[in-house]
Amino acid sequence: MVQASAPGKCILFGEHAVVYGQPAVAVAIDQRMNVNLELNSDWRIDGMTFQPERHPHVEALKQRLWDGGPPLSIKITGDIPPASGLGSSAALSVAASAALRCSRGRQLKDDDWAEGYTAARPNNVYDGPWDVEKGDTVEYGAEAVDVDECAILTHAVEAYAQGGRASPMDSSTCAHGGCIVLSDKVEEGLNWLYSRKLNDVSWEVHSVDLSKTDDVWLVIGSTGIHAPTSEQVAKVASLLDTNPAKMTEIETIGIVARRGISALLKGDMESVGRAMSENHLLLRSLGVSCPELESLISAAAPTSLGVKLTGAGGGGCMIALTRDPKTTSEAIELAGGRTLISKLGAAGMTVDSDQGAPLWDPHE
Ligand code: PMV
Repeated sequence: MVQASAPGKCILFGEHAVVYGQPAVAVAIDQRMNVNLELNSDWRIDGMTFQPERHPHVEALKQRLWDGGPPLSIKITGDIPPASGLGSSAALSVAASAALRCSRGRQLKDDDWAEGYTAARPNNVYDGPWDVEKGDTVEYGAEAVDVDECAILTHAVEAYAQGGRASPMDSSTCAHGGCIVLSDKVEEGLNWLYSRKLNDVSWEVHSVDLSKTDDVWLVIGSTGIHAPTSEQVAKVASLLDTNPAKMTEIETIGIVARRGISALLKGDMESVGRAMSENHLLLRSLGVSCPELESLISAAAPTSLGVKLTGAGGGGCMIALTRDPKTTSEAIELAGGRTLISKLGAAGMTVDSDQGAPLWDPHE
């Protein structure tokens, strides 16, 4: 059995403003998705016949990594609620791409990849398999898995499943874990990882060292209301169209996000919390909060360092940064929210078992 997992994410700063080039900050959370693969006589997902249209991410990965391979039984487990802005589909895709790569291995040529998806080649294209020659080595199991390949594939399949549009926020955070900053330029003082490009939009992706953030938790509160991201993004666009002065809010979110990043680097969690609450007021002024989010936020505020909606808004989730997660979580639940508790910046993708790999060896 081959098994891999990846964390979900939540946005600490900069949602919506990132669409206009401002920096956004996401952290990986303790909640994860696990994907488990076994050979089977036909294609199954969680025991049911695999229907590509119901699982577009898995279907897109299957086309890229398992073309011509034998049928698999795929088991998906995890504790990230779906469609709530917590990165469940990216976490699933990262874990599935790791599990599939682990299950087929990777051909090498002269110590370089002979197959795979890598930013080291033009346009991150699938670049192989090249001429397979006897004597070339093949990596099998966990050794064949590459976290950046998982991030690239996940970005591509998220775009595929969302009609062509996706930022690399979820794919990078769920693959690498920790804390990720996206911006339209290289941000000074951060660890720049790479550029990503999709349909003429490009992003600079950075990581932030969170080693100084002990003794503080995030409580994530879900309103249970599903509000599609695309609708909230369109709402902000039309607001800016009718009221261009609102661009000040977008720019101020950028300033607050940069202040939040400096505070994170120093481990000054009181300032991180203040910046989160300020960020929320600006999001509210952009019209993406709602009464249900406001009520969870008011309930959490007295025991928190900072509170805000996270993700697209209009429903979905809020987050509270707190030193007393139990009390904050109880307050949110009393106000009608469902909660999850997480540290900031969980580990990224892991291969949890590669026993029996390869499940398919296209290199023989
Ligand atoms: O709810 P999520 O995690 O999909 O976040 C949406 C973030 C936005 O900035 C609102 C949209 C985007 O594409 O960046």
